[in-house]
Amino acid sequence: MHVKQQGSLFLLLLLLAVTSQGASADADSDANVVAATENWNDKVKVFTVATEPTDGYARYLRSTRVYDIEVTTLGLGEEWMGGDMQHPGGGFKLNLLRKAITPFKNDPETIILFTDSYDVVFTATLEEIVEKFKESGAKLLLSAEKFCWPDKSLANDYPEVEERGSRFLNSGAFIGYAPQVYGLLEDPIEDTADDQLYFTKAFLDPTKRAKLGMKLDTQSRLFQNLHGAKNDVKLKVDLETNQGVLQNVDFMTTPAIIHGNGLSKVDLNAYGNYLAKTFNGQCLVCQEYRLDLDDNDLPVITLAVIASTPVPFYDQFLEGVESLNYPKKKLHLLMYSGVPLHDDDTREFVNKYGEKYASAKFTLSTDELDERQGRQLALDKARLQHSDYIFFLDADAHIDDGEVLRELLRLNKQFAAPLFTKHHELWSNFWGALSEGGYYARSHDYVDIVKRDLIGIFNVPHVTSIYLVKHSAFDAINFQHKEFDPDMAMCESLRNAGIFMYITNQRYFGHLINTDNFNSSVTRPDFHTLFTNRYDWAQKYIHPNYSAQLNESYVIPQPCPDVYWFQIVTDAFCDDLVAIMEAHNTWSDGSNTDARLEGGYEAVPTRDIHMKQVGLEPLYLKFLQLFVRPLQEKVFTGYFHNPPRSLMNFMVRYRPDEQPSLRPHHDSSTYTINIAMNRAGIDYEGGGCRFLRYNCSVTETKKGWMLMHPGRLTHFHEGLLVTKGTRYIMISFIDP
Ligand SMILES: *[C@@H]1O[C@H](CO)[C@@H](O)[C@H](O)[C@H]1NC(C)=O
Ligand SMILES: *[C@@H]1O[C@H](CO)[C@@H](O)[C@H](O)[C@H]1NC(C)=O
Ligand SMILES: *[C@@H]1O[C@H](CO)[C@@H](O)[C@H](O)[C@H]1NC(C)=O
Ligand SMILES: *[C@@H]1O[C@H](CO)[C@@H](O)[C@H](O)[C@H]1NC(C)=O
Repeated sequence: MHVKQQGSLFLLLLLLAVTSQGASADADSDANVVAATENWNDKVKVFTVATEPTDGYARYLRSTRVYDIEVTTLGLGEEWMGGDMQHPGGGFKLNLLRKAITPFKNDPETIILFTDSYDVVFTATLEEIVEKFKESGAKLLLSAEKFCWPDKSLANDYPEVEERGSRFLNSGAFIGYAPQVYGLLEDPIEDTADDQLYFTKAFLDPTKRAKLGMKLDTQSRLFQNLHGAKNDVKLKVDLETNQGVLQNVDFMTTPAIIHGNGLSKVDLNAYGNYLAKTFNGQCLVCQEYRLDLDDNDLPVITLAVIASTPVPFYDQFLEGVESLNYPKKKLHLLMYSGVPLHDDDTREFVNKYGEKYASAKFTLSTDELDERQGRQLALDKARLQHSDYIFFLDADAHIDDGEVLRELLRLNKQFAAPLFTKHHELWSNFWGALSEGGYYARSHDYVDIVKRDLIGIFNVPHVTSIYLVKHSAFDAINFQHKEFDPDMAMCESLRNAGIFMYITNQRYFGHLINTDNFNSSVTRPDFHTLFTNRYDWAQKYIHPNYSAQLNESYVIPQPCPDVYWFQIVTDAFCDDLVAIMEAHNTWSDGSNTDARLEGGYEAVPTRDIHMKQVGLEPLYLKFLQLFVRPLQEKVFTGYFHNPPRSLMNFMVRYRPDEQPSLRPHHDSSTYTINIAMNRAGIDYEGGGCRFLRYNCSVTETKKGWMLMHPGRLTHFHEGLLVTKGTRYIMISFIDP
C-alpha cells in the first residue's frame, strides 16, 4: 500500500518580478491613478453557486479573500436541484445566475464573472482578471478544455481556430459584460439539464456567437481547466511576492482561475496546497484555521484502536494510546484486535484502563470480524454515541506526543491527520498523488513533506494509520469496495464526497513502526526486530540510563580492578531472551565434547545455548556494535575495533542440580561481557563472578547490568556456586 519513493525534490521556483504586470501598469499610467483607487468589486460582480459549504467551497472562498474578491454565492443552503454531485445537471445553477444578474442586464459597464466553487481556485486579483479579459477582445469569454463534452458528436461543429489550443467549451467559468452574459442565459433551461451543453449550443450557433461576442479562452490566458492538462501546467511559487501560480507551459500563460474539472479534482487538490498565498517560505495557511479549544467544552470522541495484523511493539503502542492528553471521560474507547497475537494485551488494556473512559469495549480475533467490519463497528458506535469525532488509531502508529489529538482538533477540519513516518525512511501514512487506478503515485512534494523540509497542512488523496474525522463526514465514509482494502475504500469515498484529507507536519507527533518481515510465530517476536525497528527496539530493550553513561563526566563503577559495570538492557530484554532460550531448550550437556565448536572440545564447559542456535547471532553482533562497543571505547581507551568480532555469544544456565559453578579460567577474548539476566537473591541464591588475582567478587549482580573485563592474564576468574534457583547470564567473548 505504501510505496517508498526516492529522490523527488520539490523545488520552490523563484520567479523574478512578474514582468507582464509591470509592463501593463506603465502602459496606461494616467488611468492608473484612478484605477489604483478604484474598487474592482464595484465593476465586476462575481458569482458562484454552492448549495453546501464543502471543503472545496472553503478553499474557493479563501482564495477570493486572499485577492480581495467579493463573491456572491447563489444557492447556499438550498437543495441542489441539478442532479447528483457526480453527474450534476447545471441548469439549476444557470437559473440561479440568470435571476441574480437580472438587475445588471442593461448595464454595459458591469462585468459578470461566474465560476464554479467546489473545484475552483483564484490565483489573481480582479484587476488582473479584467485586464486579461479585455486583452481577449471578447465580450463574453468562456473557459476551454480539450474534450468535447457532454455531446462528443458536436466536436465537428466547432469553428476552426487559428491558434493552437483547447478547442472545446467548458461551462465552469466565464466572464463577460452583463448584457452579453444575460443574453447567453436568455433561453429557458431545465434545472436538471446540462449547462455545458446549453452553452455549447449557444456557442456553436454562429449568429448567437457573433451577437454576444463569444470567445473561448483556448490558451488558458485567464482560465485553466485541469482535466487532460496535467502535462501543460507547472506549479510556481514566488517566495518574494508569496504568489503561488500555475503556469501553462504549453502556451506560456499564467491563468488566473484554476478549475479542477472532471477527473482532475485530485490534481487541483494538490496544486491548491500552494495556490493563493499559502506559503511564503513559511506556512501562512497554517495560521488561518486554528481553533481555540475550550477545556470545559471539549468534543466527545470515539477512539478506535485497530490492530488488524500482527505488529511488533504493541505494548509500546498502547502506552502511546494511554499518553493522549485528553480527558478520558470524553473518549469512547473501542479496541479491535483481529489477530491472536494482540488479543491478550487488548483485553488487558480495557480491563486495566477502561473505567477511566466514557465507555470501553473490545473485540478479539475470536469474534471473527475482519478489518472492514472492525472499522465499520467503530464508526457505527461513534454514530450511536453521538460523538463529534472519530479518531482512528492503527497499531503501527506510535504516538510520541500526547498533544496530537488536541492539535488535530485545533486544525478544525473534517478530516485531519498528523504526518507519521518510519524512522529514517520515506515511508509515511499518506500518499501525495494517485495512479490512474487509484493506487499510489509519487507527487512532486512528497519527499519534502516527509522530511519536513516543507512544513504545512496539505490536502492529500490518501491517508492511513492515524486520523481524526468529524461527524459531518461520517456518512461519507464507506469501507466497502470490491478491490480496495478498507483504507483505500475509505479514502476513495471521502474524495468522491469532496471531503479533503489534510495532513499536518507542523509538529512531530509520532512514528510508524516497520512490520516488514515481522514473524509473529517465533517466541517473543519483538526481540527479533532490531534490524527493522532499531528505534523501537532500543526503546524497549536498551536500559533507559544507557546514554547517560556515555557522558564524559559519568563515572563508570568498577566493582573490581578493571571490571566495569554498566546499565545496558531492560528487564524486557532479559525476560524475552531467557524465554527464547528456554523455549528452544537445547542446553548443552556441560561435558568437554562440544560439536558446536570448531575443535569439538571445550576445556571449561558450561550449560549453555549459543545465539547461533536460536538464529539470533547477526542480531546480537549488531547489538554489540551499536550498544556495547561505545561503552568499551569509553573504559578501555584507544582500543577501537568496529565492528567487534565475537564467535561465542551464549546464555549460561547455573543450577544447583545441574551445573552450579565454573572453575577458574581465562576467556579466549580481548574482553568479555557478562550480562545478568535475572535477579540475585530473588530468582537464585549464591552465584557471582570472582577474579582470583584481586581476590575480588561481584555477587550483587543486577538484572540488565553488564560486567566488562579483559579476557586473559590479569582476569583469571571463576563462576561462584549457585545454591538455589536458576541463574542466567549472557556471555560474549569479544575479539578472540
Ligand atoms: C517464522 O517463524 C517460524 C517459527 O520459528 C518459522 O517456522 C517460519 O519459517 C518463520 N517464517 C518466516 C517467514 O520466516
Ligand atoms: C537511572 O539512574 C538513576 C540515577 O543514577 C537512578 O535513580 C534510576 O533508578 C535509574 N533508572 C533505572 C531504570 O534503573
Ligand atoms: C553530562 O553530565 C553533566 C553533569 O551531570 C551535565 O551537566 C551535562 O548536561 C551532561 N551532558 C550531556 C550531553 O548529557
Ligand atoms: C579473599 O577475600 C576474602 C573475603 O573478602 C577473605 O576472607 C580472604 O581471606 C581473602 N583471601 C586472600 C588470599 O586474601
